[in-house]
Amino acid sequence: MPQLTQDLSVLVGAAFLEAGVEANYGVVQRSDRPDLAQFQCNGALAAAKAAKANPRAIAENVTARLKEDPRFAKVEIAGPGFINLTLTDQALTDHLRTFADDRRCGVPLRSPGQVVIIDFVGVNIAKAMHVGHLRSTIIGDCLQRLFRFAGDTVYSDVHFGDWGLQMGQLITEVERELPQLPYFDPAYSGPYPETSPVTTDDLEVLYPRASAACKADADRLNQARQATADLQTGRPGYRALWRHFQNVSIETVKRELASLGVHPDWWKGESDADPLVEPMVNDLQMRGVAVESEGALVVPIDQEGDKKEMPPLIVRKSDGGALYETTDLATIIDRVREVDPDQILYVVDQRQSDHFERVFRASRKAALNGKAHLEHVAFGTVNGTDGKPYKTRSGDSVKLFDLIAQAQDEARQRLDEQGIAGSYSSEERDAIANAVGLAAIKFADLTNYRTTNYIFDLVRFTRFEGETGPYLQYQAVRIKSLLRRAEEQGFAVAPVMVTSASERELALSLSRLPDVLAQAESRRAPNVLCDFAFELAQGFSRFYGEHHIMSEPVPEARGARLALCRMVLDQLTLVLGLLGITIPERM
Ligand code: ARG
Repeated sequence: MPQLTQDLSVLVGAAFLEAGVEANYGVVQRSDRPDLAQFQCNGALAAAKAAKANPRAIAENVTARLKEDPRFAKVEIAGPGFINLTLTDQALTDHLRTFADDRRCGVPLRSPGQVVIIDFVGVNIAKAMHVGHLRSTIIGDCLQRLFRFAGDTVYSDVHFGDWGLQMGQLITEVERELPQLPYFDPAYSGPYPETSPVTTDDLEVLYPRASAACKADADRLNQARQATADLQTGRPGYRALWRHFQNVSIETVKRELASLGVHPDWWKGESDADPLVEPMVNDLQMRGVAVESEGALVVPIDQEGDKKEMPPLIVRKSDGGALYETTDLATIIDRVREVDPDQILYVVDQRQSDHFERVFRASRKAALNGKAHLEHVAFGTVNGTDGKPYKTRSGDSVKLFDLIAQAQDEARQRLDEQGIAGSYSSEERDAIANAVGLAAIKFADLTNYRTTNYIFDLVRFTRFEGETGPYLQYQAVRIKSLLRRAEEQGFAVAPVMVTSASERELALSLSRLPDVLAQAESRRAPNVLCDFAFELAQGFSRFYGEHHIMSEPVPEARGARLALCRMVLDQLTLVLGLLGITIPERM
């Protein structure tokens, strides 16, 4: 199904051509003034400028031809030469019918699709997932759903922080606590115990303690550095202990992500890039991309026109250790070998934008990324009502698990206040509250353009009015129950029809979906989906207020409205699904 605005652009383009002007001036868009027209074309002005002609004359020439087309109810010129267009109800009806029963709601499937890697979550071993990981997880998950729906092959990777100094800090801290364990005995040759000596809860206590100790005490820091180097060069006991850290952490993170309904494809870590670092560095040196500088090996990345200083990227420190930047470079090699992606999107806090700028420059300079477009999909912070990053009362980061639980409690309270689901079994009520809580958090996050900071306010997020996840869920559930009742009464769905103002409005919204998805995708902007879902829900409310559906006596009219209801529900379900929001069967 061609998109309506594209369809109209072709039509208007042909009219421009007949008027002696290039067809590409005929681009049609949604009207800025829905009170005046449904669509507009501003091309006559640009065409006139290029041809040094009178825009109104061109517009008149074009509109004269368009007026002959029976699909238009109104063709008008406004101001200096804007062309305003309004379709007949029949034309809108015909258009809706082209995708009324389409499983993809009229959205074409991209073929061939691209291969896209989404680097998201970015959690580190031994640090529990907290509110800071929420945005990467939710935005990255929405993007993976969006690209998959479009037809791409997506690999999402948590890119676990499992390498580097923190690991040495943890190893030395465990050694102080439990020195008798075999991991620390250089003479011991295995096998090592199968069960982990520590849980994730232990790690969360041990890590801050170790990190503080290393800050206060240079000896401790040196020990941690040494342990890190030994781990990285493969000391068996350290490797075995570190595997335990990895396994227990992954298990916990998996559970946390699953409770958000997020399921990454890859559980790779920074450590997976490690074997590639040494050959990469040698290769860069051989090709002259990396050069020696004060005992280190660096890739100069400054470019003409740089507004700020761009120090070279260090691929090998003078002590031989690898840095975050080096790991990210080697990870690109790993990914290119693995799936040769068309794009790699890094859904990471905007405070890391310099880091990615540096890595991308070095990668391009060394031609490591193959055909892949590299992009940092940056996002802002989640703040508390004080405008500072959201913290618990005692000043700690809020754990993700607690956050989800709080949202679900708040949702339960809202359900009680509104008398929603009051008569259901406690199991069903709990399931609804959980779904509403998640919808509240996800929608509140995604509805802000990603680089905007926002204030975490569960009371506001869980409201059933306004632009919230729960409101949209509730509207979708209402349509579901309406359709269910119609079915129970034996009311058949009939071909969709547009006859009234509110139906017209809905038809125009429904026809926008392909444009909406394309825009959300190209700007990596889930908020475009949120706005659209809200537009649909509000349009539906007006329609529902204006028309009686169940009490409509004429079967064709009733069936046509039921068809419209179903189309709205299908699109709402699709769009909320892309946002990672589920719709309960009833509420
Ligand atoms: N673990 C990192 C951090 O906590 C985020 C990783 C982001 N992804 C990447 N490829 N660098 O800051």
